[in-house]
Amino acid sequence: MTKTLLRALAGETLETPPVWMMRQAGRYLPEYKQVREKAGDFLTLCYTPELAAEVTLQPIRRYGFDGAILFADILLVPDALGADLWFVKGEGPRLSTVQGEKDFEALKPAADVHERLSPVYETIRILRGELPADTTLIGFAGAPWTVATYMIAGRGTPDQGPAHTLKNCDRQVFDRLMQRITDATIEYLSAQADAGAEAVKLFDSWAGSLEGPDFEQYAVQPARRIISALKERHPGLPVIAFPREAGAAYEGFHAASGADCVALDQSVSAEWAAEVVQPAGCVQGNLDPSLLVTGGPPLISETKRIRDAFSGGPHIFNLGHGITPDADPDNVTKMLEELRG
Ligand code: CP3
Repeated sequence: MTKTLLRALAGETLETPPVWMMRQAGRYLPEYKQVREKAGDFLTLCYTPELAAEVTLQPIRRYGFDGAILFADILLVPDALGADLWFVKGEGPRLSTVQGEKDFEALKPAADVHERLSPVYETIRILRGELPADTTLIGFAGAPWTVATYMIAGRGTPDQGPAHTLKNCDRQVFDRLMQRITDATIEYLSAQADAGAEAVKLFDSWAGSLEGPDFEQYAVQPARRIISALKERHPGLPVIAFPREAGAAYEGFHAASGADCVALDQSVSAEWAAEVVQPAGCVQGNLDPSLLVTGGPPLISETKRIRDAFSGGPHIFNLGHGITPDADPDNVTKMLEELRG
């Protein structure tokens, strides 16, 4: 195995950690904005394989990252399940809502998602032909809880209130929705692996709002079910789990979920994670994305601190969350120079 990112995922400690960035294809890049403009609509960009492949490749050409993340969105799964989905400029996603049994019954079966999602598989096939030989192609999906929060509220919410309300007031519908998303996610990620994704990542961006037994039931267990089904169908497929803002619950997450790599947000310290999380497997992330806006000496010292803290075990350098549209592309170059020497 020669791809450094796959070696780190397999548990190898490397002298220079492989690196990529969440949201590396995005609005901080002028070349992304150009293609985004040409596509017109964000969903058109996601569902047009040639354009989605092109924006996936842009950050690889510019920076030579070790990982290329498929250009798509976690909300394509609700779209494929039959929810209405659109994006409001400057505001974010909007969806039809699932608030009771009737809304749930209107959703499509999990096995039907391929019909809508097949252009994504085509994007992956194009990318496998075009990526440099040492770049790992990462597929992804949203974790069930995070996807459910958008499907229930119909938009992003600061505290995931509507999803908590459905969970607490109509547990049966909530559990059936979680199961449907879990099944659809297995279908989707499995098809991504068939098309050529070499690793996959589960984004549980709102895992931090699940507390106590809810974290176990709705963050850990769905991840475990998805990962074990994937590994049954695709032995050896590495999986990265990102239970964002899990805090103390990052400890033990490798073993509980079966993930090969656990991605960390910036709210935990690298030194703590190196001691209690990394012994169980590869870790990824932790750099505060705002440092790529502000740059300067703090960007350099934090890059070095995180690399050093994780240098004793398997590590993929990444951010604690996605790079923001106001980041300076030159700061990414500086981060990479510090990292790679
Ligand atoms: O480069 C990459 O990381 C690959 C593509 C990718 C996108 N979204 C493209 C995108 C990935 C992996 C995602 C994941 C995603 N999408 C998450 C999980 C990670 C996280 O950020 O917590 C979530 C919660 C979403 C849902 C979503 N998509 C929201 C809330 C928004 C609006 C907010 C925003 O940043 O604008 C999107 C839109 C979106 N997805 C954009 C991109 C590049 C911006 C839209 C545009 O270009 O107009």
